[in-house]
Amino acid sequence: MRNEVVSLISLLSLLPFGLSQEDTIPSSPESFHPWSFEPVCTQHFEALKGPLCVYTNATFSNGRGISIFTTPEISKDFAASLPFHEPSALSDHGINPSEGEGPWYVQDIPGKGKGVLAKRDLHRGDRITAFTPYLLVHMESELSINEREKFLSIAVDQLPAASQEHYFSLATIWGEAGYEVQDVVKANGFEMQVGGKMHVAVFPETSRMNHACSPNAQYYLEPGLLTHFVHASRDISTDEEITISYAPPLRFHEARQKYLLDYFHFTCTCSRCKNGEASDHALHEIDGLQSSLGNWKPESTASVKKAEELIRLYKQEGLDGFLDTAYGYAALTYNAVGSVRGAKKYAKLAGEAAAMKYGPSHSDVNVWKELERDPQGHVSWRRRKIGK
Ligand SMILES: *[C@@H]1O[C@H](CO)[C@@H](O)[C@H](O)[C@H]1NC(C)=O
Repeated sequence: MRNEVVSLISLLSLLPFGLSQEDTIPSSPESFHPWSFEPVCTQHFEALKGPLCVYTNATFSNGRGISIFTTPEISKDFAASLPFHEPSALSDHGINPSEGEGPWYVQDIPGKGKGVLAKRDLHRGDRITAFTPYLLVHMESELSINEREKFLSIAVDQLPAASQEHYFSLATIWGEAGYEVQDVVKANGFEMQVGGKMHVAVFPETSRMNHACSPNAQYYLEPGLLTHFVHASRDISTDEEITISYAPPLRFHEARQKYLLDYFHFTCTCSRCKNGEASDHALHEIDGLQSSLGNWKPESTASVKKAEELIRLYKQEGLDGFLDTAYGYAALTYNAVGSVRGAKKYAKLAGEAAAMKYGPSHSDVNVWKELERDPQGHVSWRRRKIGK
């Protein structure tokens, strides 16, 4: 699974399940809307205060379809969300474009299986993909593997044929017969918070993107649109492979390798993985610079020189998709010594980077926009002694 955290199977007791919901049993056929079939439910689970059910809308987004395995309560959140009652909300945003429409294509990559490549030159900030999931699964530890497979199979079987086929063409981890649906979830799932509960979502197009420790693309999830967005975090040339990070890229070498091995069963061989010592050295430097730049006491050793060095290190490590942090420190540091020009320049870049990493409506984006708009009105204005 991609992101901080765990597999469906190993999740187990870690989950803080909601304790407040009333149990709701789906009843008469008229109440299916917006679902194409009568929801199929498990037994009642004490920890979930109800069952988990399969909800499918087979005509969702021009026949792409979507299946959701979640609680009746959360299914109502889905049903109420914009994409279900305003289908143009997706197409108006260019979400779920038809095949071949995006600036990317899929091809076999020696030693890596399939990968996604750029169809044309892409610039930093360009959108690469925007898709809704085929399958969304509430994380839980109540069901046995066999029971879970039974319900998730129903969820996938209820999707349109083309979507089923696409689903089963994705990479797996265990390769064990009888558990194919969970296997695809495990190998391809992205975590998405819905209704206050963690779900795992499978976005087949985006799943084809391979991992890199210095990825050239960054993604975020927009739960309101049920959409996974990917943008170029730096310029990408025609026919270059497009990559995202499956592991937290600012963790040390050994922790990153362990993460990829534990959750994705592969050993990373990209340059930051092969030169673990050098990459750890850079991370230590990054860490030291960030502590200094984040120290606002009078004795702080923060300086614009250090902020520039921090940006240089992020770029050297290929962490362009995570530059909002470095740009943010730079914006604050320039502003703190009274440089409106430096503050505006870096606040703009920080805002752009944050929008690619968290989505344009995230509060961080607003913080940087506000600093760009009015540096002198920001609390950091001339907070440090000039000359530092
Ligand atoms: C499925 O979702 C679409 C939105 O894409 C909606 O217009 C439609 O009514 C839903 N289908 C059913 C059976 O309710």
